[in-house]
Amino acid sequence: RMLKRQMLCRLDIDWLNAAFLAIYESLVPLEEETAKQKQFFMLLEKLVSKEWPEARLYLYGSCANSFGVSKSDIDVCLAIEDAEINKSEVLLKLADILQSDNFQNVQALTRARVPIVKLMEPVSGISCDICLNNVLAVVNTKLLRDYAQIDVRLRQLAFIVKHWAKSRGVNATYQGTLSSYAYVLMCIHFLQQRRPAILPCLQEMGTTYSIIVDDIQCAYFDQVEKLHGFGSRNKETIAQLVWAFFNYWAYRHDYANAVISVRTGSILSKREKDWTRRIGNDRHLICIEDPFEISHDLGRVVDKFSIKVLREEFERAADIMQYDPNPCVTLFEPY
Ligand code: CTP
Ligand code: MG
Repeated sequence: RMLKRQMLCRLDIDWLNAAFLAIYESLVPLEEETAKQKQFFMLLEKLVSKEWPEARLYLYGSCANSFGVSKSDIDVCLAIEDAEINKSEVLLKLADILQSDNFQNVQALTRARVPIVKLMEPVSGISCDICLNNVLAVVNTKLLRDYAQIDVRLRQLAFIVKHWAKSRGVNATYQGTLSSYAYVLMCIHFLQQRRPAILPCLQEMGTTYSIIVDDIQCAYFDQVEKLHGFGSRNKETIAQLVWAFFNYWAYRHDYANAVISVRTGSILSKREKDWTRRIGNDRHLICIEDPFEISHDLGRVVDKFSIKVLREEFERAADIMQYDPNPCVTLFEPY
């Protein structure tokens, strides 16, 4: 109890909170950067519509979900409805078009798990990945963006968690750690669970937005402008939330049995999801349910080695928040 009191005193100190807010502000992209991305996207749209007049182009990922820090790459999805298309052919054709329009470093990665065309825009230096028909990602991008509009503390917390994850080398799915998308879902779930709650569960509310993508019904309440002030009964500051977030993942999460679920705004059991044993490469050592593709565990990339790395990093972060005199520096020290 004494520790807890010490901690609360410390986190009450305004400077700590101000320091976290300053880090957040420094990560937010400038308006001119966002404007450049828009321009770049419009140029792509023009080129694409010449070749595929029926196709649509969407921004997704961090440049569209409001969790993008300055200088992020941009993620674009080319949606072509024709079921007959050959994905590799379309991507090769697209690469051709972009190449002849003076884009640099154009590469078609047709054999990747998610086939994409990669390119760089020479003037602004913007890098971009274009995938094909990944409409579910466009829809979950909208869900994240809608959540971000309800309470600014989500965006603040997620920026700090993403910044921490990148600094500490635990934001690489190819190394068995978690994607940025997974970290944002962890933040949303965490804020749904605070008492009083800081975020509602949009998928449990009356449907105002509904779309069927790849046979999956995606439905939720998207009139988020009506939810401003939802979390205002909860007065927790960003410093307190960062402390509590890491404390949860270091010491309170039940790794053996629990699945976090933004879809239901609650914790489910591994047993009810049938995520209790390893199937193929899915080990379910940390379980994060995708809000729409509910058979998809975003923790499935984590293996028995990287779960240790992850949990040690959560503990390190929690301990720094508890005891370090200058957590805003130590937390983000390169690994
Ligand atoms: N995505 C997904 N399922 C995953 C991983 C990603 O649907 N398992 C989609 C999400 O729409 C996500 C987008 O791909 O927003 C980009 O994922 P990611 O690179 O993890 O997140 P970003 O928000 O782009 O983060 P960063 O700033 O690190 O690029
Ligand atoms: Mg991205």
